[in-house]
Amino acid sequence: MTVLFADVVHSMDIAAAVGAERLREIMAELVNRASSVVQGYGGTVDKFTGDGIMAVFGAPVALEDHAFRACLAALGIQEEAKRLAVDVRERDGVELQLRVGLNSGQVIAGEIGSGALGYTAIGEQVGMAQRMESVAPPGGVMLSESTARLVEHATLLEEAEKLDIKGSDAPVVARCLLGVAPQRERIGSWREPLVGRELEVSTITGLLDRSMSGRGCVVCVAGPAGIGKTRLVGEAVQLAKSRDVEVFSTFCESHATDIALRVVTRLWRAAAGVMGLDDENARARVRERVPDADEQDLLLVDDLLGIADPEVSLPRIDPDARRRRLTALVNAALLARTRPALYVIEDAHWIDAVSESMLADFFTVIPQTPSMVVITYRPEYEGTLTRIHGAQTIALAPLSDPESSALVAKLLGPDSSVGEVGEAIVARAAGNPFFAQEMIRDLAERGVLQGTIGSYVCHTDVAEVSVPATLHAAIGARIDRLGTGAKKTINAAAVIGLRFTAALLTGLEVDSVLDELTKAELIDQVRFTPRAEYAFRHPLIRAVAYESQLKSDRAQLHRRLAAAIEVGDPQSADENAALIAEHLETAGDLHAAYRWHMRAAEWLRPRDALAARARWESARCAADRLPDDHTAVLDMRLAPRTMLISTSFYVGDDVDIDGLYGELRDLTMQTGDLRSLALAMAGRIQWFADHHTRVPEAATLATDLEEMATGIDCDAATKSILLNAVAMARFVNCEFEAALQVIDEIAALTHEVPAVEIALARAIRGSVEICLGDYELGRRHLQESVEQGHALPPVVSAQILFFSSAMVVLGMSQADDLVDDVHEALRRAEEFGDSSGIMAAQYSYGITLLCAEGGSPDDALDVLQRLRTDVEKHKMFKLAAATLDAVLEIDAARKGKLDEAIDVLRASFALHMSSGSRVFVGCPGEALVGLLIERGSTDDLVEAHRIVDQWPTQRLNIPALDLWWLKSRALLAEAEGNSDYYTKLANQYLRLCERLDARGRLSEARRMVNEIT
Ligand SMILES: Nc1ncnc2c1ncn2[C@@H]1O[C@H](COP(=O)(O)OP(=O)(O)O)[C@@H](O)[C@H]1O
Ligand SMILES: [Mg+2]
Repeated sequence: MTVLFADVVHSMDIAAAVGAERLREIMAELVNRASSVVQGYGGTVDKFTGDGIMAVFGAPVALEDHAFRACLAALGIQEEAKRLAVDVRERDGVELQLRVGLNSGQVIAGEIGSGALGYTAIGEQVGMAQRMESVAPPGGVMLSESTARLVEHATLLEEAEKLDIKGSDAPVVARCLLGVAPQRERIGSWREPLVGRELEVSTITGLLDRSMSGRGCVVCVAGPAGIGKTRLVGEAVQLAKSRDVEVFSTFCESHATDIALRVVTRLWRAAAGVMGLDDENARARVRERVPDADEQDLLLVDDLLGIADPEVSLPRIDPDARRRRLTALVNAALLARTRPALYVIEDAHWIDAVSESMLADFFTVIPQTPSMVVITYRPEYEGTLTRIHGAQTIALAPLSDPESSALVAKLLGPDSSVGEVGEAIVARAAGNPFFAQEMIRDLAERGVLQGTIGSYVCHTDVAEVSVPATLHAAIGARIDRLGTGAKKTINAAAVIGLRFTAALLTGLEVDSVLDELTKAELIDQVRFTPRAEYAFRHPLIRAVAYESQLKSDRAQLHRRLAAAIEVGDPQSADENAALIAEHLETAGDLHAAYRWHMRAAEWLRPRDALAARARWESARCAADRLPDDHTAVLDMRLAPRTMLISTSFYVGDDVDIDGLYGELRDLTMQTGDLRSLALAMAGRIQWFADHHTRVPEAATLATDLEEMATGIDCDAATKSILLNAVAMARFVNCEFEAALQVIDEIAALTHEVPAVEIALARAIRGSVEICLGDYELGRRHLQESVEQGHALPPVVSAQILFFSSAMVVLGMSQADDLVDDVHEALRRAEEFGDSSGIMAAQYSYGITLLCAEGGSPDDALDVLQRLRTDVEKHKMFKLAAATLDAVLEIDAARKGKLDEAIDVLRASFALHMSSGSRVFVGCPGEALVGLLIERGSTDDLVEAHRIVDQWPTQRLNIPALDLWWLKSRALLAEAEGNSDYYTKLANQYLRLCERLDARGRLSEARRMVNEIT
C-alpha cells in the first residue's frame, strides 16, 4: 500500500494573516477537493490532520497499482490546491501552497482494522510519508525510494536526491514526481488471465533473455485482429519490466498510413525520453544523452523528434544525406546503449512508408545490442518489416477448442446455467479470444447473462438467444446500444483515431460522454495529467464505430477535426499538414485538401524526397477531382505535376512520367504557361539523357525545346537551365558541334546566370573540346569547372567530375590529377548529398582510383561494383552503365568469368548502340572485341569483325570516338595473323593518340608499335 501525506506550507503564517476562522474554511474546502480526488483514484481518505490530509491506497481494498494511483492523486491534489490558491490569493492576499509526500510499503493483512486503520501497526510507513512531505518543495510531490521504484516506468521523476531527514540517522533517498509518463499503460482495466500460448510466451521469454545477453533480436507477432497479438506483447512487456528492461512503444493507425514519418517520430520520442517535456527541455534532454554529437546532427534529431527550435533553420543538406546521418546517429545511439531495452511497434500493417524503411535501417543493428524489438501486424502485411534479416516470427493461430472453452469458462464463471451458452460462444468465436469477450459483453448488456464477469448466470433458454455472427457484428451491436451522447462521442473519437483527448472532442463540438464508454469497456483512459487522454480498447472497435456512421456526419467531423488540429497547435501546422490534408480530403473538401497537400509536400521536401512526391501526387489527384470550372483549377493541376516531373529523377522509371508529362503539356497549352512547359521539358531531357534507352528521345525533345526557348520570354537564369538541358542532350547524342553552339549561347547570356549552370556548361564544353582534338582548351575548361565545383552543392561538383572521369574512361586524360578532387567530392556527397550525387561521386572516385598511378584498383573495383548494382536498383545514373560494364567485365574476365563477361558486354554494346549514348559505347565495344580475341574461336573472331565493321556506318566523325575502333581493328588483324595490316593500323592508332594527346592511351599505343619491330 501507499500512504499519501499532504500538508499546507506555513499554515501558521496563513492563520496569522487570515484568522483561524477563515483558515478553517479554506482547509475545509481543500480537504473536500482533495478527498474527491483521492476517492476518484480508489484511495481512502483517512485522517484530517488539522492542516492537511492523509490517505491510503491499497487498503482496505487491495489495489495492485496503489503507488501509481497515489501519484495520480498527489498530482491531482496539487492541481486542486493551485486552483484554490488563486481564489485565496485574490481574497486573502496570502499564498496557499501544499507539500505532498508518498511512501509505499508492505502491510500485513489483519493489521489493518476495519473502519479506522490500525495506524500504530503501520506507523513506520506513515512516518516516512510524512518525512517525504516535509522535504517536498512547495507545490511539489516527493516520493520515497520504495514508491519511486514502483512507479519509475510510469512516471516522470527527478533524479534521486539524498536528504538528511529529521529522525533518521542515514540520509534518505527521495525523488520528486514531475508527472505521469504519457505512454503509461491503462490502469485498473480488468485483465483476464492468459489462456494457452505457453509456447509463444516461452519463445518470447527466451528471445528476451537472449537479447538481454547482448544478442538482440527482432520478433514479429503476426495474426488476425483480436487473436491476441497485443496481449502477447503485453506479456513480453511485463517480463521486460520485471527484468528491469526499459520499454518504448508506438503504434500505427489505419488512417495514418499516408502520413510520412509519424511512427518513427513517435517511437524515437519515447526512446529519447522527451515525452511530456516542452521543446526546450526536450532539446536539452537530447543533448544530455548524446553529449558530444555534431551540432548539425543534433538539429536533424530535433527536427525528427518534432522539437526543433523554430528560430534555428534546418541544416542545408539533401534529404538522402539527412536520412543517412539520422540512421548513423540512431544506430550509434542504439549500439552505445548498454541498458537493455524493448521496442514495440504495434499494428505495422498500417505503418507509413518512410517510417517503415527508416525503422528497417535502424533495426539492422539490433543483433549487436542488448535490445529486443517486437513488431505486431495482421497477416495481410507483407512489407519490409516482415523481412528483417534474422527476425523471428511468431504466427498466432486461433486458440484450440479446449483453450477457448477455458477462456470462456473463466469469463462466464462456474454457474451451471451458463454452460450451454458458453458452448455456443466457443463454437462461434472460432478461437478468437476477442470475439468471445465481445459476445459475452453483448449478451451481458442484453441481459441474457446476469451478474458480473467471472460470475454470470443465465436464465434464458439458449435456443432463443442469437449470438452475433461476426466480431464486427458483436461490436456493432454494443455500440448501437449506447445512449445518444455516448454514441456521438464514440463516433467523433473514431474519426480522431485510436487515441484522443477530451480537448479534441470538444474541438469537434461534441459534448463528451466518456464515462459510459469507459464503463462499457469500449475505451480506456490512458493518461490522466496534464490532459486526460483516452484510447479505444481495440482498433476494431474504432473501425466499427467509424464505419457505422453516416458518411455525411463523418465528413462533417473530419472537416471540424482538420480545423481543430490546426487551431490546437498552430506551431506544428507544417508538421501536421499531411494529417490535416487527409482529413479534408476525406471530408470532400478538395480545394482545402489540395492546399494542405502542397504545404505538406513543401515541408517534406527537405526531409524525404519520396514522401514529398507522394504528397504532390495526392495534390494532383485532389486537383484532378475538382470540377473543370473551379477557379484556378488548371494552375492547381499544373503545379503538382511540375513538381512531380522535376523530381522524377528520384524514382527512375518507376512511375509514369511520360503520362504526366503529356498531361502537363496539354495543361500548359490551355493556360499558355510556356515557361512551365519549357522547364518540364528541360527536366525531361535531362532524365532521358541519363537513360540508356532513351537518348534518341532526349535529342528530339531538345530540338523542340531549343526552338521554344528562343520564342519565350524568360529570365537569363531560366534560359540557362533550358539551354543546358539542350547541351546535355547534344553531348550524349554525340552532336558535339551543336553542343558547343548551345554552350556559346549560355555564355552569351549576360547576367544572373546561376553558377551551377555556368559550371556545368563549362564541363560539357571541356569534354567536347577534348574529344574534338582541341585538348589544351578543353583541359583548361574542365579544370576551371572542377574548381568552380568546390563552391557548389555536392551533387553539382560530382556531376562536373563525372565529365572529367569520362575523359579518363575514354583514354583522353590521365587520372592522377583528379585523385584529390574525387576524394573530396565523395566526402562532401556522402555528408550532404542525395543518392544521385553520391553515385556520381562514386563513379569518379572509382574510375580515378582504378586508373591513377598508385591508385587502389581493388577498392576502386569494389566501389564501382556496388555502384553498378545501385544504378540498376535506383534506376538512375544509367549514363554510367556502359563504361561500368566495360571496366567491371574486363575484371570479371581476368578472374575467370570470360564467357559471362562476353555475354554481358555483347548485350551492353548492342543496347547502347541502339538507344543509349554513343559517346561511351566504344568502351564496351573495345572490351568486347578484346575478350573475343582472347577467347579466340573462329566464331569469336567473326563476331569481333562484325563489330568493328559495323562502326563506320554509325561513325560520328569525332576523332576521339574512333580510337577504340582503330585499336580493336589493329588487335584483330594481329589475331588473324595479318601483320602488315596490324603494323599499319597500330601506327595509325598511335598517330591519332598523339594528335589528340590521348594521355590514357599513349603508352599502350607505343607498346603496340614497338612490338612490331
Ligand atoms: N490467450 C489469451 N488469453 C486470454 N485472453 C486473451 C488471449 N489472447 C487475447 N486475449 C484477449 O482478447 C482481446 C483481444 O486481444 P488483442 O491482443 O488485443 O488482439 P490483437 O492485438 O491480436 O488484435 C484482449 O482483450 C485480450 O486480452
Ligand atoms: Mg492489437
